[in-house]
Amino acid sequence: MHEWTILGAGALGCTFAALLTEQQQPVSLLLSERHRGHFHPAFEFIALNERRRLVNTHRRFAEQAAGVECLLVMTKAYQVLPALTGLRDLSADTPILLLHNGMGVADDVARAFPHNPLLAGVTSHGALREGPWQVRHTGKGETWLGPVNEGGRAFAHLQAPLARALGHAEWSEDILSLQHRKLGINAVINPLTACHRIRNGQLHEPRFADVLTQLSEEVHAVLATLGETETLEQFRRRLNAVIELTATNYSSMHQDLAHHRPTEIDYITGYVQKHAGKLPVPVCRQLYHEVKKLGG
Ligand code: PAF
Repeated sequence: MHEWTILGAGALGCTFAALLTEQQQPVSLLLSERHRGHFHPAFEFIALNERRRLVNTHRRFAEQAAGVECLLVMTKAYQVLPALTGLRDLSADTPILLLHNGMGVADDVARAFPHNPLLAGVTSHGALREGPWQVRHTGKGETWLGPVNEGGRAFAHLQAPLARALGHAEWSEDILSLQHRKLGINAVINPLTACHRIRNGQLHEPRFADVLTQLSEEVHAVLATLGETETLEQFRRRLNAVIELTATNYSSMHQDLAHHRPTEIDYITGYVQKHAGKLPVPVCRQLYHEVKKLGG
């Protein structure tokens, strides 16, 4: 069995590591320089059923990239390229699976690693960092993966071990469409919850009804120009279902702003604006500036 190497030891990266090791699948965490010397040998994982266990994974640093067999990239979107370009010894055979939030990074990665099989994935699992070495799995979701370049097409077999560990994983030849669908949800929920400092479920309060409608229309219209066939009604139903399902969660962008970290706004709302062309997207623009003003 091959070893998964996870780049990005955030809440979701650690959750994937915990779920994979639970199934006895070999996992290593590829850590950044700042973790050298003071990364705990184990982290505590709190499962959905509140069961706690210590997860021990093998650790790697950039100079050990040559031995990486399959790389799962789970950093923040803005960290993907700098983190990957640090892996000078990564073999050209190693498949790279991009699992970060937001879009607009894959083309740069394809240019920087023209020979590597490149794949993208979307996941709706939820996770939260509760303490420095403590991660909570907050929601079981679906995971889809698919090819970004020709080389990536040969890696459909990665789906089966991921499905065993995560409860669900499927292969899609049209992963771009699934990425767009996830981006649509993020482009509505994330900047609104971040700017108003609210939980996802509060978006259903009457005071947000108008902005939610207008923003949904803007985002849906842009995704339609990118080839998405979902109707506005279907998009809104899916959006409402995610808001309900994650009602008590703080979105990732809310958490980033609250912890004074950069946000993924350029790869979410920024991506929508960039592809809007002549379509008016005033709410997107306003939220983009608001998030930037708040430090994101
Ligand atoms: O980015 C996030 O927080 C999540 O993707 C989502 C679906 C908005 C739920 O919080």
